Amino acid sequence: MNTIAEIVPAGDAMERALALLGKGEVVAIPTETVYGLAGDATNGEAVARIFEAKGRPRFNPLIAHVSDLAMAERIGRFDPLSRKLADAFWPGPLTLVVPLQHDADIHPLASAGLDTIALRMPQGFGATLIARFGRPLSAPSANTSGRISPTSAAAVTASLGEKIRLVVDGGATEVGLESTIVRAVDGGLRLLRPGGMAADEIERVAGVALQRGVAGIQAPGMMVSHYAPNTGMRLDAKAVREGEALLAFGPKRIAGWQKAAAQLNLSEKGDLREAASNLFAFMRQLDVAGAEMIAVETVPMSGLGEAINDRLSRAAAPRGLSDDERRISHG
Ligand code: TXA
Ligand code: MG
Repeated sequence: MNTIAEIVPAGDAMERALALLGKGEVVAIPTETVYGLAGDATNGEAVARIFEAKGRPRFNPLIAHVSDLAMAERIGRFDPLSRKLADAFWPGPLTLVVPLQHDADIHPLASAGLDTIALRMPQGFGATLIARFGRPLSAPSANTSGRISPTSAAAVTASLGEKIRLVVDGGATEVGLESTIVRAVDGGLRLLRPGGMAADEIERVAGVALQRGVAGIQAPGMMVSHYAPNTGMRLDAKAVREGEALLAFGPKRIAGWQKAAAQLNLSEKGDLREAASNLFAFMRQLDVAGAEMIAVETVPMSGLGEAINDRLSRAAAPRGLSDDERRISHG
């Protein structure tokens, strides 16, 4: 497709989006986390179009987005702990991996042939769209595979504009990080991907500690190098070097900050929520600032800091490794 996607404000886009989805086309939509590239999860052609537009490895399963619990339970089998988390946090930035129902109407391409399914109930435009459509939507982040997730309609267009027809513009996304992914196993809970819902909030409701770094299949898409800007990133920088841009955090600057080629502060006051919502947009802005490297100040690991540090270390990881070498075995 050589046309450039049309950007339509969320308030005017519902009928257009429904018509395209009904024809098995894909549509970029806002969610509270990041923009998603949505297609009918029951339609193999629609799912194939998602992979094609993103240039994504086929083995990587997609999150099925639902509008209510009844829809979720037709797709996945909920154990009591997963159900408790859904009750507490849906709609919201939490994805639950549960066993796939045997008769679930999900195309095998969307679940990558696994016997589990990742389910999420988003807020806002996406929720209304799914309810009206009446079927689950597969929706990975609306970026070229391996690149930074889009938190604005403009970022979607920059990445996928020539490959899709419609971008629904809901403004800047509120959370700014992808959803947290967890899976209940044997009465415990595994953190498969830190994200927009802080681990300690989940633990408070679950009443059990999240297991991290458990070997075995995690989120298959969690490659080490991911969310990558073109410019290299240097984490936990103690000083800015010649020719570097600075991604700052908090009120105190590291040495040499005055000579930074460009500078953005994730949160002047050191608020991790604000930092999360700024992270991808600021990485994108510093990426095109013409610097040789982006020096990144230390971001604390508490709360959403875990997910922010996860995305930063992926963005800083060496490129050019094979998928197997890049795939991590620890969540
Ligand atoms: O916030 C989000 O989650 C966004 C918005 C659009 O909803 N979506 C998103 O999707 O980040 P995506 O496809 O970029 O990331 C989904 C992750 C991948 O790492 C994938 O491997 C993992 O979820 N995943 C999907 N199904 C899985 C399963 N059955 N078991 C384990 N991991 C799974
Ligand atoms: Mg993604």
